[in-house]
Amino acid sequence: MSHIPHRSHWNSRWTFMLATAGSAIGLGNIWKLPYMIGVNGGSAFVLVFVISIFLVGIPLMMTEILLGRRAQKNPLDGIQTLAIEAKKSSLWRYLGGMGMLTGLLILGFYSVIGGWVLAYISEAVSGSFSQITAQQSTANFDALLASPFKLLFWHTVFMLMTMSVVAHGVNSGLEKANNILIPALFAILLVLLGYSMSEGDMQTAFQFMFKPDFSKITPVSVLSALGHAFFSLSLGMGAVMVYGSYLQRNVSIARTTIYIALADTLLGLLVGLAIYSLVFANHLAPNAGPGLIFQTLPIAFGHMPGGNIIGVLFFLLVAFAAWTSSISLVEPTIAWIVENTKIKRHAAALILGVAVWLLGVAVALSFNEWKDIKIVFNLNIFETLDKLTSTVLLPLGGLLMAIFAGYFMNKNHVQEELNLNDQAFKLWRIANNYIAPIAIAAVFLYLFGLIK
Ligand code: PHE
Repeated sequence: MSHIPHRSHWNSRWTFMLATAGSAIGLGNIWKLPYMIGVNGGSAFVLVFVISIFLVGIPLMMTEILLGRRAQKNPLDGIQTLAIEAKKSSLWRYLGGMGMLTGLLILGFYSVIGGWVLAYISEAVSGSFSQITAQQSTANFDALLASPFKLLFWHTVFMLMTMSVVAHGVNSGLEKANNILIPALFAILLVLLGYSMSEGDMQTAFQFMFKPDFSKITPVSVLSALGHAFFSLSLGMGAVMVYGSYLQRNVSIARTTIYIALADTLLGLLVGLAIYSLVFANHLAPNAGPGLIFQTLPIAFGHMPGGNIIGVLFFLLVAFAAWTSSISLVEPTIAWIVENTKIKRHAAALILGVAVWLLGVAVALSFNEWKDIKIVFNLNIFETLDKLTSTVLLPLGGLLMAIFAGYFMNKNHVQEELNLNDQAFKLWRIANNYIAPIAIAAVFLYLFGLIK
């Protein structure tokens, strides 16, 4: 990866951890997981999500890292290189191509939601949460959604932030800031959790999230939970693969993966607890959908001591977490363009930036002017992009990567990269070759009505 010039200045393991944790921790944990839990019946969703992280997410994250570290290239050329090395069809490169496209599609809506967060920083700074009631908070959020101008403005700012970093190369220093900011995010979350414990309804929240209720498990919620495991860990589209080349040979892929996955999952569940305890205490609807955190958190910030400052800090940290994730959504494509054409990094960032920005315009309008435009299954533009990427493209990408690493690559090469003892390697192989592909395929087949 020619655009990461200073790799050697860093303890390699730490660099990789920060970059990959930066990609994984983002709106998926703070915005999406909490509302998905509510929309999909609470504890049933949490259970399937956590199982998916352990049985499918962790093994496949290891797979994606090993593919990246071995290939040392963008996903498309990288998978092609590995396929040729294994004397298999170079058509496998389209798997990399699919991942790149998936990343751009995700960024199309990710940037709009990132824009909501930026809008909320400005709200928090202006002190508008102070003593806010639940109704006012909901009305506030609805007003934001109803304003195409505001949504487009903040979406544009977020795209500019993302593309300006990408234009300079991912090693521009942003990842280093993670060093402080991820722990800071955890710290502020603990403050929030403390407040929720004393003022909210933690007991109901806890039951809602963790008391097993199998009756609420439906095929769609299983697919959503599995898909969200991919989304949350940034799997299935090549981001982790590109970052895999940060990692030097002597570092354990397994251990690093487990740390990242645990931090990512824990963060999401803690946000969930803090939110639901406020939701139940304020008699808000747990299934409010994508607006959930924007409707609930201002109530906490508006009433807790020092809430003004804590609110500003919180939304700043969330914006930062979203920023380090959004970069990883475009990086695979940028790397591919730079390594294959004469187009320079700056120009590539500009071209992709404009294309994704346009997609985001359509997404922003789907919250107001274009609300009633349905694409498929009665889903609007935002919902279509979200479902298509999280529940179809990411799991499909992960499934194919698992099959590629498990059945097409040379087993010795794989073992060399993972560098595990025999027993652990066997475990990974069972997960990668059987559990993950069968689980993903079964969910797909079930939904297509092919198995009952
Ligand atoms: N994992 C990121 C988040 O949770 C989103 C993401 C998905 C980033 C896929 C890269 C690839 O916010």
